[in-house]
Amino acid sequence: MFKLYGPPLFFLFVLHMIVCQDLSGPLQDSTFSVQEGNKPGVQYLYRFTFEPPVASLRLTGEKEGIMDILPKDGILYLNGSVDWEKKKVYKLQVEGLDANRVIVKGPYSITVNVEDVNDNPPQFDQEKYYGVVRQNSRAGKPFMYVTAHDRDDPNTPHGQLIYSIFHHFPSPYPEMLFQIDNVTGAISTSLTGASKLNPQDVNTFLLDISVQDMAGQSANFFRTNVDVNVTVLENLWKAPPPLKITENSTEPHPIIIAQVQWNEPGAIYEIVKKEKPPNKLPFTVNQDGNIYVTEPLDREEREIYSFFVAAKDEEGGWLAHPVAVSVTVQDINDNPPVCDKALATFEVQENERVGNDIGILKASDRDEQGTLNSRLKYRIVEQSPQVPLGNMFRIEFETGKLQLFRSALNRQVASNYSVKVEVADPAFKTLCNVEINVIDINDQIPVFEKSDYGSFTLPEDRPVGTILLEIQATDADEPFTGSSQIIYTITKGDPNNTFLIETDLKTNKGYVKINKVLDFETSPVYNLTISATNPEPLVPGVQYNSSSIAYWRVSVSDVKEAPVFRQLVYIASILENAPVGTEVVIPSAFDPEGDRIRYSLKNDHRKWLMIRPEDGTVYVAAPMDRETERTYIVQIVATEETNEARSSSAQVIIHLKDVNDNPPALPKDYSLFFCHPLQGNEEGKQIQVIDPDEHSHYQRFIYTLMGGSAMKHDWNLTKMEGKHAYISPKNRNLEAKIYEIPIQINDNGKPPRTGDVILKVKLCICGDDGECFRDVDRDNTFPTVATAVGILVGVLVVIGIILGAVFFHLKHKKQKEQKANPVTALNPSELRNLT
Ligand SMILES: *[C@@H]1O[C@H](CO)[C@@H](O)[C@H](O)[C@H]1NC(C)=O
Ligand SMILES: *[C@@H]1O[C@H](CO)[C@@H](O)[C@H](O)[C@H]1NC(C)=O
Ligand SMILES: *[C@@H]1O[C@H](CO)[C@@H](O)[C@H](O)[C@H]1NC(C)=O
Ligand SMILES: *[C@@H]1O[C@H](CO)[C@@H](O)[C@H](O)[C@H]1NC(C)=O
Ligand SMILES: *[C@@H]1O[C@H](CO)[C@@H](O)[C@H](O)[C@H]1NC(C)=O
Ligand SMILES: *[C@@H]1O[C@H](CO)[C@@H](O)[C@H](O)[C@H]1NC(C)=O
Ligand SMILES: *[C@@H]1O[C@H](CO)[C@@H](O)[C@H](O)[C@H]1NC(C)=O
Ligand SMILES: *[C@@H]1O[C@H](CO)[C@@H](O)[C@H](O)[C@H]1NC(C)=O
Ligand SMILES: *[C@@H]1O[C@H](CO)[C@@H](O)[C@H](O)[C@H]1NC(C)=O
Repeated sequence: MFKLYGPPLFFLFVLHMIVCQDLSGPLQDSTFSVQEGNKPGVQYLYRFTFEPPVASLRLTGEKEGIMDILPKDGILYLNGSVDWEKKKVYKLQVEGLDANRVIVKGPYSITVNVEDVNDNPPQFDQEKYYGVVRQNSRAGKPFMYVTAHDRDDPNTPHGQLIYSIFHHFPSPYPEMLFQIDNVTGAISTSLTGASKLNPQDVNTFLLDISVQDMAGQSANFFRTNVDVNVTVLENLWKAPPPLKITENSTEPHPIIIAQVQWNEPGAIYEIVKKEKPPNKLPFTVNQDGNIYVTEPLDREEREIYSFFVAAKDEEGGWLAHPVAVSVTVQDINDNPPVCDKALATFEVQENERVGNDIGILKASDRDEQGTLNSRLKYRIVEQSPQVPLGNMFRIEFETGKLQLFRSALNRQVASNYSVKVEVADPAFKTLCNVEINVIDINDQIPVFEKSDYGSFTLPEDRPVGTILLEIQATDADEPFTGSSQIIYTITKGDPNNTFLIETDLKTNKGYVKINKVLDFETSPVYNLTISATNPEPLVPGVQYNSSSIAYWRVSVSDVKEAPVFRQLVYIASILENAPVGTEVVIPSAFDPEGDRIRYSLKNDHRKWLMIRPEDGTVYVAAPMDRETERTYIVQIVATEETNEARSSSAQVIIHLKDVNDNPPALPKDYSLFFCHPLQGNEEGKQIQVIDPDEHSHYQRFIYTLMGGSAMKHDWNLTKMEGKHAYISPKNRNLEAKIYEIPIQINDNGKPPRTGDVILKVKLCICGDDGECFRDVDRDNTFPTVATAVGILVGVLVVIGIILGAVFFHLKHKKQKEQKANPVTALNPSELRNLT
């Protein structure tokens, strides 16, 4: 800008400048821009050139006393200030006049646009704001708005406002409890605020909110602050206290049992079942938040119900975590005692002593255990027959234990008693039927049908289990009691239990069987003594005698036999990485008849072994792996060279000894979760790896968190030496999703092995019970802060694109305009000199 002092000569120079700078031109429609503001004096905007017949120019239109043209020179000028906030555009016309002041050219339209400068600070609409927020209200959900206006051009940064919270009082945590949307002025609780606000601690906050123009971009902005007084109210949305409902209610249903209430009206309440798969729940909730039980409950069917009540907005979005409702059904005495058996049968020996136990009568009651409702009392109400006496038996009041009460039992008089026992709880009585059989005393011994079963010859190769002989003794005591049942025992002649005798309980017959392989070469003859006894002891004065004993002789004949291994089982231990060719075991067999033997392997299904046919040496044929097969079992077969039909086999059990050849790894479905949003004090969750190698190698593991500083910033891995490690989130701003955390684990084997594992950790929305309420999925979750921020960013991007387009358009337009270079004259006389 030029300031001109002194002689008119300078004006020529100025005019020259105007011409040179292209600030002059012929008469035509033109547009100019002028910055608003108070500038003293006169500003030149443009010089119109003209030729005869035009002798002078005239300006008409919205001159408003501040715009005009020098008629002879054609200089368009501004004398005074323009204000964008008052008038944004001046519409003028210029005409060319001839010497007689007759219009010979034009009129042409002249447009003067006023450009905004940032000369207005933003103003809040209110001097002070008041807001109310509920404890635990959702983070990011606005509970109030502040708005400010700026008179400057909203199409330029001058009028674009950015809100922020300057400070709030008190401020008990490092993080702010509140947040403001910098564009909309919406105030909401922050994540910290959502979890920490508590009207019991602080119930009113003063928020110092500031708004600044220039879109927060430039240093020369105006800022205005306002106080917002926020009152914290108690959260109304909470779980009702544990509920108790008495079962089998006769009152008309539904019955209201509790109420929940969302912090604002208009919420939609809904019952959410907890079980998978969901059972039918006898509860409903209405739109006032009243929870009803819909039908009488039965404690004996189900004692505890738990479910959630959710509050939703109109779109079905969850307003907060659902609250857990737990209902306990209280017992009433609505079940009579029940006898466990329709008829309980007991036995009593004729010579039983008074006070001896006969047995316990069992009865039960479905009402709640440990309460009077299920307390049972027993009483004998009837005994039949009443001979030889009444009250033959007694029952313990509390326990149902039956005892003999009179010592007058006599099978001849009464062989059985039918007894009715009353079992009573405080409200109900049930009769249980008891039968007591009087059984005989064991005063008879078993007597063999014959005392000598003669001799028997059999070949040595008879298989184990073959029945060789049927024997019979009889007992005159009462059948099917311990007094008459018979146990046969070989008391002499069979030291190695080569034979065994089984008794048929119905017939008391005995069956003599081969229990172990017979061998002519070692034991060709057995001379057996068999005795018969009862399980019940004999009464004093009676003893077993020779009538209870029988004899039997067995001869074993020789058979041409297959080779025999010296051991039936060979056990070997070998390192799993033993080289091919290592000897594992050298078995040995012989042929009883001295024939030559060849050896072979059976069941070597992994083809790990070979055998030398001549001497049976087993050796390693291929690399083995303990983790595939800890114990490898094969058979070796010895076959007679001359008769392949005669062969026998032995087992080789190979225990593979571990070497540390496996890295530690995570169990397959290892999944951990933390509740989102994170509180910052999450307890570490334990992880423990598996290592297929043997114990000594994995006593200790060293865990290392991989993935660089980003992982270390987000996650905390501790107690890294030992069997376990603990993982917890360190970065509280992690969003709800599944994280894959790379961890390296070393075992302490020699040499050590390193496992690189990926630990999956889920951040999920939890229910009141601290379990994952919903998996990390898209539907039906309430928006996390991350999604909210995402949406906001999206909106801002769109706004940004629009703003960019507007700016680009403005700039483009400006380039087309002829730019006035304003020149200020000091005083009007100089101007006059020009004319
Ligand atoms: C906020 O306003 C309430 C009355 O509306 C007042 O009791 C309280 O002291 C105010 N709090 C602050 C921090 O100014
Ligand atoms: C306004 O907030 C958004 C996100 O909420 C942020 O990306 C942006 O930088 C903020 N603008 C200013 C000027 O602080
Ligand atoms: C309810 O109680 C009555 C007696 O009080 C009983 O007869 C009925 O079986 C009971 N119902 C249930 C479901 O327990
Ligand atoms: C019970 O005793 C009666 C006679 O007192 C007899 O007729 C009946 O057969 C006996 N029942 C049994 C199972 O012993
Ligand atoms: C019993 O076994 C031992 C050793 O096992 C043996 O020496 C003895 O001959 C066997 N006796 C009979 C009668 O089988
Ligand atoms: C078998 O044993 C009985 C008695 O123990 C004896 O009398 C009898 O001579 C024995 N017989 C033989 C063949 O050993
Ligand atoms: C064994 O005792 C019973 C009586 O218990 C008797 O009848 C029998 O004759 C006796 N037998 C011998 C051989 O003594
Ligand atoms: C890491 O976790 C351990 C145990 O869970 C805890 O003692 C420690 O304070 C945590 N460290 C950080 C930085 O969070
Ligand atoms: C400019 O305006 C002032 C006062 O408004 C007036 O005195 C002066 O004459 C004007 N000058 C011209 C060149 O119009």
